[in-house]
Amino acid sequence: MTICTIEDLRIKAQKRVPRMFYDYADSGSWTESTYRENSSDFQKIKLRQRIAVDMTDRSTALPMIGQQTTMPVALAPTGLTGMQHPDGEIKAALAAEKFGVPFTLSTMSICSIEDVAANTTEPFWFQMYVMKDKVFAENLINRAKAAGCSALVLTLDLQIIGQRHKDVRNGLSTNPLLTLKGWGQILTRPAWCLSMLSTRRHSFGNIVGHAEGVSDVNSLFSWTAEQFDPALNWSDVQWIKARWGGKLILKGILDVEDAKLAVQAGADAIIVSNHGGRQLDGAPSTISQLGAIVDAVGDQIEVHMDGGIRSGQDVLKAIALGAKGTYIGRPFLYGLGAMGEKGVTTALEIIHKELDLTMAFCGERQLSNINRSHLLPGTF
Ligand SMILES: Cc1cc2nc3c(=O)[nH]c(=O)nc-3n(C[C@H](O)[C@H](O)[C@H](O)COP(=O)(O)O)c2cc1C
Repeated sequence: MTICTIEDLRIKAQKRVPRMFYDYADSGSWTESTYRENSSDFQKIKLRQRIAVDMTDRSTALPMIGQQTTMPVALAPTGLTGMQHPDGEIKAALAAEKFGVPFTLSTMSICSIEDVAANTTEPFWFQMYVMKDKVFAENLINRAKAAGCSALVLTLDLQIIGQRHKDVRNGLSTNPLLTLKGWGQILTRPAWCLSMLSTRRHSFGNIVGHAEGVSDVNSLFSWTAEQFDPALNWSDVQWIKARWGGKLILKGILDVEDAKLAVQAGADAIIVSNHGGRQLDGAPSTISQLGAIVDAVGDQIEVHMDGGIRSGQDVLKAIALGAKGTYIGRPFLYGLGAMGEKGVTTALEIIHKELDLTMAFCGERQLSNINRSHLLPGTF
């Protein structure tokens, strides 16, 4: 199959990755309505086509929190990325640094912070979940600092976990390797199985050996299920900010009031996000909330967004509404599952090409000039 779109990568990944891990990526919570609307709401926004404008010498470069990018599209933090492809986090980080976009490593990654740092050359961003075990949390911050991470992305929308029915049915909330069904799903993907033998990285690299009482896969699954801190609040954000001392991005803001609190907390940027429709099903899509949040706090803080981006046109719409940066989750996971590092590069190339051409069709040569005037009134 000739790969032209992110959807092509998704189809290829679905054929290659064992069902439990493919489903883990391609799912939202409960009815998945928010997951779907994250993408479909982009389609409602229409672009203004302009003609006979000089389209030479174009640039999609735009900095995110002061860091230069080829285009303002970072790789979002995603858990279990090393299960889509062996050493998945390292592969994705390499693709990102070669392309010139930020890579964000999840707390729940397979490759550890140290692994990714040792195998890449550019500083990456680290995403932190707040756990009940504060010693572990403090160590995590120190490890990210020691690895030279250039930003901390603090996720605030996952104190408790939204239910994804597919994960329950696939047994992913416990240990899938303990079930016959789990083994069945894995063995029907022989190429993936063989490739996984090439790496020793098969469990949560940031946790095993670093958290009290976690020695094997079974204790790991129960530890992580119990460890997310339901008491997380804005005072924890201050605690983390003080210990980190570097650039801080708050992820999971979907409401104007929370955006204002994030400004008060002294963050460098916020990510308008609903966790890719994986938490509160029934919450609005992120693109539908972006404009109001930019209007409320955009002059005080850098506003980023993620959720539902599947094309360069989507990126342009988010930038037009005032986002200073965007993130992709599933698009790069599909690329990774389909073709490893090359697939992530392909995902970035697809989005970059579409973004560049869309900008030109809208009559602009610099992404920094894109604003709401490039969107058709009444459609956003
Ligand atoms: C498989 C998967 C795992 C994720 N794991 C994390 C995570 O560990 N930490 C986090 O902050 N967000 C996580 N997210 C949410 C993403 O960072 C991001 O908000 C979301 O994927 C954006 O939507 P998109 O996938 O439509 O681009 C995850 C998303 C997916 C799809």
